Amino acid sequence: MRTTAVSVAMVMCVMMIQADVKPQKDFSLQKFAGKWYRVGFAYDSPGFAPYRDKVKVSMGIITPLPNGTVNLTMWELTPFGCVTQIYQYNKTSVPGHFTYFSTRHNMVKDITVVDTNYTDYAVVLKHKVFNREYTQVALYGRSPRVRHDVIQKFKAFALSQGFPREAILIPPPAENCPLSGSGR
Ligand SMILES: *[C@@H]1O[C@H](CO)[C@@H](O)[C@H](O)[C@H]1NC(C)=O
Ligand SMILES: *[C@@H]1O[C@H](CO)[C@@H](O)[C@H](O)[C@H]1NC(C)=O
Ligand SMILES: *[C@@H]1O[C@H](CO)[C@@H](O)[C@H](O)[C@H]1NC(C)=O
Ligand SMILES: *[C@@H]1O[C@H](CO)[C@@H](O)[C@H](O)[C@H]1NC(C)=O
Repeated sequence: MRTTAVSVAMVMCVMMIQADVKPQKDFSLQKFAGKWYRVGFAYDSPGFAPYRDKVKVSMGIITPLPNGTVNLTMWELTPFGCVTQIYQYNKTSVPGHFTYFSTRHNMVKDITVVDTNYTDYAVVLKHKVFNREYTQVALYGRSPRVRHDVIQKFKAFALSQGFPREAILIPPPAENCPLSGSGR
């Protein structure tokens, strides 16, 4: 009886870690805007596993629009070359917490900026609430390379969120994406 209660408590505890993620305190969208590079990525979907070694660093620009929508323009290296994509995020009443509609999965997802110091790095969690399967954690840097201690912190956070080590990627830089001369 006693052990059962303990294991239930432990299971609850693991679920709470997932649900209890809070955005960066006093999040400022204005300071967060501008250019970022996705330099780290954790994603544990079995379907994604074969593509892990193909991931490259991608560049993105965050543009807050006057009507409250946030545009994220990403340059991604695909088998078809360097492709520009625009994602639109909606602000919520909680600063640092956004929602967007994923056309790929046909559902609304949450984006939480968990930790950022605006000038160097940002840890961003993407999730469909309470559903592990779709959760991703990304590390963004203001430059294509970030400090080693920032990467260690990111890995520790991803492990604490239940990602196995092999699902935590530090991809190599993308060559010529965005194409030189564009997106600057
Ligand atoms: C805000 O403006 C953008 C660009 O014109 C548009 O795509 C988006 O739907 C608008 N958002 C809202 C909430 O009206
Ligand atoms: C934001 O994204 C919308 C939809 O793709 C686009 O029409 C609009 O021009 C973008 N606005 C800015 C300022 O990037
Ligand atoms: C974002 O806001 C627009 C305009 O209010 C709305 O039509 C759209 O459904 C919202 N999307 C999400 C994912 O909440
Ligand atoms: C942001 O983080 C980097 C890397 O840890 C650090 O070097 C820098 O001083 C920090 N900046 C601020 C404003 O805290």
